[in-house]
Amino acid sequence: MTERTIRKAAMPAGISHYLTDYDAGRSGFTWEGARRALTGDTDARLNIAFEAVDRNVERGHGARLAARFIDRSWKRVDVTYTELQTRCNRFAGVLRSLGIEHDTNAVGPGSGPARPGPCVATLLGRVPELFTVGLGTLKSGNVFCSLFSAFGPEPLKTRLELGHVRVLVTTETLYRRKVAGIREMLPELRHVLIVREDVHTQLPAGTLDFEQLMRLSSETYEAAPTRDADVALLHFTSGTTGRPKGVTLTHAAVVAQHATSQLVLDLHPGEVYWCTADPGWVTGIAYGLIGPLTCAATMIVDREEFDPQRWYQVLAQECVNIWYTAPTAIRMLMKAGASLARARRYPCLRHMASVGEPLNAEAVIWGVEAFGMPFHDTWWQTETGAIMIANFAACDVPPGSMGRAVPGIEAQVVRRAGGRLEVIASPDEVGEIALRPGWPSMFSSYLESPERYRESFVDGWYLAGDLARRDREGYFWFIGRSDDVIKSAGHLISPFEVESTLMTHPAVAQAAVIGVPDPIAGQAVKAFVELRSGFEASEELRRKILGHARRLLGAVVAPREIAFSDSLPRTRSGKIMRRLLRARELGLPEGDLSTLEGRET
Ligand code: WT7
Repeated sequence: MTERTIRKAAMPAGISHYLTDYDAGRSGFTWEGARRALTGDTDARLNIAFEAVDRNVERGHGARLAARFIDRSWKRVDVTYTELQTRCNRFAGVLRSLGIEHDTNAVGPGSGPARPGPCVATLLGRVPELFTVGLGTLKSGNVFCSLFSAFGPEPLKTRLELGHVRVLVTTETLYRRKVAGIREMLPELRHVLIVREDVHTQLPAGTLDFEQLMRLSSETYEAAPTRDADVALLHFTSGTTGRPKGVTLTHAAVVAQHATSQLVLDLHPGEVYWCTADPGWVTGIAYGLIGPLTCAATMIVDREEFDPQRWYQVLAQECVNIWYTAPTAIRMLMKAGASLARARRYPCLRHMASVGEPLNAEAVIWGVEAFGMPFHDTWWQTETGAIMIANFAACDVPPGSMGRAVPGIEAQVVRRAGGRLEVIASPDEVGEIALRPGWPSMFSSYLESPERYRESFVDGWYLAGDLARRDREGYFWFIGRSDDVIKSAGHLISPFEVESTLMTHPAVAQAAVIGVPDPIAGQAVKAFVELRSGFEASEELRRKILGHARRLLGAVVAPREIAFSDSLPRTRSGKIMRRLLRARELGLPEGDLSTLEGRET
């Protein structure tokens, strides 16, 4: 803790928080208890969609608003839990009619986890259909994968292939721009369902009309008898090398997503909650869809992109109680000034949390200045499936710290010693974040990479790839990544994926991609390019390569900057040394750079 610690006494009063006494909350917690609290029974079956939707209807929350979607002109589309249930049933029925159905024989008793069912993917923004398709797919026992709609055709093709995606639901615009050109290369993609933006246009050849199929489908559907260990979700994340990693989560993930929605987001039934994450990333599904619904909360879904004025309007006008957002957005709000925030009143707002990248102390404190309460940092990753480390609503907040381990989670800072791990017992020493396996949302595989999965576990611990220190009180402080992946505006970007795409340009012989510090986005993607003989470095060529990368990768993933280099630094075996490039870029001694990122905290 520091002298800047924001004491819980300063937090808004009058709320019955889930976790007021951290130590008591931890010692009284078990995952079996959490599962029972969610489902109310000990049935062997467990289905995420059933817990998120049907269970609420069963318990009398049917008429409650599950979600309110707001569009550019502030037109609202309200969906109750009962309406959501009907829509999900219809979509599960659509999948059945297309022959995309969960094989219940594959989950016979005692047979262990079933092989994952067929994968249904969305390429959509924050629209009601995302809820329908995601939950309908889970209810039918198939695997749901939400793809990031800002990806270009190249990352999409890789992911659709790797996920063996059989059904894709998208809009006409996204289909024409990103999918039509790669469709032929995806023989496993059997059906493309189009959510129409305009009912008068003709659908692209080889696609089906989503709404038309929905209308023909039945309003009832019995949830597939899935069990805890059955694969439910597929999320893509990035490593340093190789293809993107397909992370699978099972239906049991709902237990951890529910428990943390209560313990960390402090969500009670009927509360209004706003998660600003994009559904293309794990936060947008775990806490932008599943977790909050299991708490019978009402979700605000703003379809528009970031805009300070609009965001303050959402918070005030929609009477948001709980807000989950990200450091890049907070830094952009800070840039626009606290007075803009204070121009409105937020009487409903009572808890603010952040995730995805280092949240600097100044941003936490700015929360107090602008809203009268701090941002509560939370730490987790795609592989953990739920929040693992957090600052809790009713506990002290040391600005700049990620918080303490969630009840049910054993988190430590460790160092490698030979093939073993050593828990670092003394406070404030830097090591790797390690988690003891056994929590229900832990990933069950990296798709088609069993050895990569095995390598994530050492000596009985899961190693997250992050460096941190832990203080005397058990609070974690983020230091940086232990690998070369880049975090830009909250997006995890693989340098390898960007390098591979750059090398498809005829002028590029070699490319090396690193993250360079950026005051708003945390890091920005920078590429160093070695040209093939016969090509001259020029401003025009630089622009051409940039354009090529943007077209194929999408603007979020493409490099912001390209520098030409006569010879990239290599190891003796020929591997490009990204770390050395990073050191040069920062003007640092070219020694060990592992502790350089995230230092602003
Ligand atoms: C990586 C995971 C968390 C879900 C969305 C991102 C970084 C995450 C924090 C934080 C500093 C953080 C880590 C982590 N990260 N939260 N509070 N402070 N860094 O999931 O895309 O799998 O990224 O994001 O490096 O390993 P992801």
